[in-house]
Amino acid sequence: MKETPAARVARLRELIEYHNYRYHALDDPEIPDAQFDKLFRELRELEDKNPQLITPQSPTRRVGSQPLDEFAQVLHALPMLSLDNAFSEQDVEDFDRRARERLGSAAALEYAAEPKLDGLAVSITYRDGLLIQAATRGDGMRGEDITSNVRTIKSVPLRLRKGYPPLLEVRGEIYMPLAGFRQFNSRARELGQKEFKNPRNAAAGSVRQLDPSITASRPLAMFVYGLGEVSADVTPQQQSALWPWLRELGLRVSPEVRRVVGVQGCLDYFRNMASRRPGLPYEIDGVVYKVDDMRLQERLGFVSRAPRWAVAHKFPADEVVTLLKDVEFQVGRTGAVTPVARLEPVDVGGVTVSNATLHNMDEIARKDVRIGDRVVVRRAGDVIPEIVRVLVGERPPHARKVSLPRSCPVCGSAVLRTEDEAVARCSGGFACPAQRKEMLRHFASRRALDIDGLGDKLIEQLVDAGHVNTPADLYRLDQETLAALPRMAEKSAGNVLASLDKSRTTTLARLLYALGIRDVGEATATALAVHFGSLEALACATEEQFTAVPDIGPVVAGSLRRWFAVEANRRLLDDLQALGVHWPAVKPAGAKGTVLAGKTFVLTGTLPGMTRDQARDLLQANGAKVAGSVSKRTDYVVAGSDAGSKLAKARELGIKVIDEEALRQILGPAK
Ligand code: IVH
Repeated sequence: MKETPAARVARLRELIEYHNYRYHALDDPEIPDAQFDKLFRELRELEDKNPQLITPQSPTRRVGSQPLDEFAQVLHALPMLSLDNAFSEQDVEDFDRRARERLGSAAALEYAAEPKLDGLAVSITYRDGLLIQAATRGDGMRGEDITSNVRTIKSVPLRLRKGYPPLLEVRGEIYMPLAGFRQFNSRARELGQKEFKNPRNAAAGSVRQLDPSITASRPLAMFVYGLGEVSADVTPQQQSALWPWLRELGLRVSPEVRRVVGVQGCLDYFRNMASRRPGLPYEIDGVVYKVDDMRLQERLGFVSRAPRWAVAHKFPADEVVTLLKDVEFQVGRTGAVTPVARLEPVDVGGVTVSNATLHNMDEIARKDVRIGDRVVVRRAGDVIPEIVRVLVGERPPHARKVSLPRSCPVCGSAVLRTEDEAVARCSGGFACPAQRKEMLRHFASRRALDIDGLGDKLIEQLVDAGHVNTPADLYRLDQETLAALPRMAEKSAGNVLASLDKSRTTTLARLLYALGIRDVGEATATALAVHFGSLEALACATEEQFTAVPDIGPVVAGSLRRWFAVEANRRLLDDLQALGVHWPAVKPAGAKGTVLAGKTFVLTGTLPGMTRDQARDLLQANGAKVAGSVSKRTDYVVAGSDAGSKLAKARELGIKVIDEEALRQILGPAK
């Protein structure tokens, strides 16, 4: 049954009020902003079509939320308005066309383009150059008095520099820079305290503290972008002229602001800011275009809650809502059976997402994820998309709980889960084709044996055709077998064989890492190689001997011991060596007689004759330590072309900087 417009309007108002409260009053939003905007737009459209349903209490008729009771209230001399949003280039074109139509102007308009800071809107009033009041936006008419808190923010001047009118109210955004936000959250995590969801909530939560000393302890900053009440007519007549004027008074204006011409200028600015966004030290959720000429602004005026002379052009959301269609289980290299969410495909920040990780069963239980739920999906940078939370309020009656399969979806072996582990594992080991494929993929990966051209597709084919079961089988492949595979040309078969041949020369650390022993990552593999020096020594080491290696605890030692105890694994190592896989002997760290014993190196820039990985292998094989950053303890920095901050740091600390040639001399003739 379809809802009547009146019922839908009532439902939307209820939802919007609830989410407004979560966002503004609790600083703890439940749904992403884009989802909220969608609800808001739907309500406004319904009201536009059915004006008889409009009431003065409708969320579309006011801005923001009620102020909290505890703060004194401040009546804004001029209302603090909101901005309309544009979500597409078309929306921006429409905004510009409407403005030009109203002004009867055929010519391109000039716009002031500014980043849209994601923080908390504030009004700050200066009388005779002294800060006398600061207030939040509140509901747009009335805000909260946060004067004592704002006084603690260093980028807010308490006294203006010369040239101010007797009364000056400025408006801007208080925000928490990303570095400060991350630091705050990692401290909170350490202390077991509540973390902030995002910098916006962090800023809002920090400013609306009844105790100003708490605000003072938070890393906050402010940018000013406009004016409120002003006593004298001394202010510039263009938004873009306001920027230097405000700066002269000692107020902070974003360095990203630009004057642009016409829609094209706006869109160029948008693209430019979108590409620079990941490198900015603070979060922005879009850009704002304002008609530059203030006389034109006046002529354009306002509609109920927003000016007609400005619009916020929002970046595509990186959190969106979609349907969880199913949960499937994937089997990884170590047999871990991981739940993967199959989603109704959805655009998240410009990328179509149809799968997301659910990590493990505990995570599913914690988030109460059920098949058929509507879920919030997030994508941050290169990270695999994940399900942030479930919209429990929208759960359909047929939503189904997720259960762990009893048997492996690939090989049918039992799936086991031990008490102390969050992950469930397929007990099939090498008999499970999924584990075999993952293991081979890992074995061939760049930081392992680095077998160029042995990609996922080829591994898939080789395992399915039964040509390869263990990594050793890779070295048994011949031209004939490879060339007979579908879509494999003579030449590419030759290339794969050449890559395999090249990979036969490796290092002990790489081989150990490539074996995919549980808990043995790159750093552990290197530590093991350096400590034991040879595979033979490793293979017969006891758990105690393993724990003598720096950073290796009983868990990893147990994994190692168990791995080397398996007959098939020992045979694999023998086979690999018999098939020509070899590595230079490792001189254990600190061993006497090596130039590099106990020396610490840092690599930076592009070396002319070897990759950084090769240089690292070479150094480690000679007993040196290779560190990621330069410190007082660094002995040498090996710098290639385009070396950046590490080189600068080395110079600053007076650390010896050498090039590849000098490194080769130190290492002596290759053995
Ligand atoms: S101008 C009447 N400029 O966005 C014009 N607002 O949705 C009102 N914001 O409440 C605002 N950066 O908190 C303007 N450069 C900017 C902005 C900006 C962030 C925020 C502000 C405002 C909200 C409007």
